[in-house]
Amino acid sequence: MSEAVPSSTAATHEAAHASALETAQEAAHEPSLDYNELNLTAGKAERYDQLRARVRALVEHETDWLANLGNAAAEVFAWLPNLNWAGFYLMKNGELVLGPFQGRPACVRIKVGRGVCGTAVSTRATQVVADVHAFPGHIACDVRSRSEIVVPVIVNGEVVAVLDLDSAALNNFDAEDRTGLEALIADLVPHVDWNLATAG
Ligand code: SME
Repeated sequence: MSEAVPSSTAATHEAAHASALETAQEAAHEPSLDYNELNLTAGKAERYDQLRARVRALVEHETDWLANLGNAAAEVFAWLPNLNWAGFYLMKNGELVLGPFQGRPACVRIKVGRGVCGTAVSTRATQVVADVHAFPGHIACDVRSRSEIVVPVIVNGEVVAVLDLDSAALNNFDAEDRTGLEALIADLVPHVDWNLATAG
C-alpha cells in the first residue's frame, strides 16, 4: 500500500530540492574565499602556485573585467609578503591610468617612458627595481615604497596595462617574482575584456 503524499508536501520537497541544486551549482562556481587556506610558511614558488590557483578560481567563471582585475589585485596584495601597494594601470589614449588596486591612493596618470611603470611600457619588459631611490625618474606615489616590480600586460602585441607591486622593504622582488607574476598575468589575460578595460 503506497502512502499518499499530500500535494503541498510534494511541492515543498520539490522546491527544497531545486533550491539545494541551485546552491550546489552556485557553490561549484563560487571560489573559496577562506583565508585560512593561505600557507604563510610556503616558499616563493609554492606561494605563486597557490596564488595563481586562487586567481584562476576567482576569474574563470566571471567575465566582468573590473571584477576580475579587482579580485586579482586583492589576491596579490593579500598573498605576497611585504607589499604596501598592488594594482593595475590601464593604457588609455596612449597613457597609463590608475586601475583597480589595493593600498593608499596613487598617482592617476603616468606617461609612457616615465617612472618604473612607464618604463615597463616603453621597454615592454618586466622591471625589477631593488631600490626605487636609485631608479631615475621613479614616481613616488607612496613615500614608504623602497622596491618595486612592474609587469607589462601585452595582448595581441599591444601593451594594454601594467601590474605594479610596491614594497616598503628594499630588494623585495627577484626573478622568482618576475616568473610568478608573468605567469599569473598570462592566466588572467583571457578573462579580461581589454577593449572595455582600456576604453577612454
Ligand atoms: N612608482 C611608480 C608609480 C606608481 S605607484 O608606485 C603606485 C612608478 O615609478 O611608475
